[in-house]
Amino acid sequence: MSASDLWLRDVFTKYGLIVMIVLLVSFWINYKWSKVRRNIYKAYLLGFETECAELADSYKRRLFRSLDQIVSHDETLRSMGQIRVLEIGVKTGENIQYYPDGTQLILVDWNRKLGNYLISSERSWQFSHVDFERHIIGDGSSLKKIPTGCVDAVVTTRSLCCTTSVTDTLKEIYRVLAPGGKYFFMEHIPETEGTFTRWIQTVLTRTNLWPLLYGDCRLDCNPNKDIEKAGFQKVMWKTVVLQGYVSHPIHLFLSRRHLIGTAIR
Ligand SMILES: C[S@@+](CC[C@H](N)C(=O)[O-])C[C@H]1O[C@@H](n2cnc3c(N)ncnc32)[C@H](O)[C@@H]1O
Repeated sequence: MSASDLWLRDVFTKYGLIVMIVLLVSFWINYKWSKVRRNIYKAYLLGFETECAELADSYKRRLFRSLDQIVSHDETLRSMGQIRVLEIGVKTGENIQYYPDGTQLILVDWNRKLGNYLISSERSWQFSHVDFERHIIGDGSSLKKIPTGCVDAVVTTRSLCCTTSVTDTLKEIYRVLAPGGKYFFMEHIPETEGTFTRWIQTVLTRTNLWPLLYGDCRLDCNPNKDIEKAGFQKVMWKTVVLQGYVSHPIHLFLSRRHLIGTAIR
């Protein structure tokens, strides 16, 4: 054996066990941590986000009212008085109640379990007025499976902030909308510059702490300018602040301000 082989053998005998233990412990921590993270996010979606959707109810009712007036670009759907809607970031289908009867729905969400939930959970009867045309498991910034100009309306509520790229998602929304189609949004936005809350929102996002725990959500994301620049003919929006009782007031405090509006392709 050469001197270097002997040296390697010595190192392995002395430290091999320690290295193995360190590796095993890090794999175990990593495994447990991703499980803990998944559970925190699940509790957040089913708890706080559901309460938040309830607080947003009156705003959404007003926002989605004009869905009823949309006439489909698709001849067959038009003849049946139906429209095709794409929703990105659907969670447990809180927005579906606002969609007109017979809506052909395309859903895009990271969550693999969503399809089963919407079709076979005990809440599925609440979605029986719409047809699930397609469920795409994936990122809102890449909608390659959806043909250009094929949907009459696109909806995102509190979900743009989680997509890999807001600009790319908006480009895709613009592409898949038929001419004259409408984009409906209600997205949380940060507080005004210079406030303490804004500072907290920036710190929590830039340190990656908030995105890590809450499904990549960026508290400092404001899609306002991106929507304005996405090429839509007419953009209308206002800001609203959600208020009311939720079980996690800090979560609400950090994401209570919203940009709500529509953009016409
Ligand atoms: C905070 S929830 C909002 C749910 C619903 N839109 C609402 O307002 O109640 C965010 C949703 O976006 C989904 N999501 C997260 N990242 C995504 C991505 N990159 N592309 C598509 N959906 C995503 C999550 O799985 C979740 O269903």
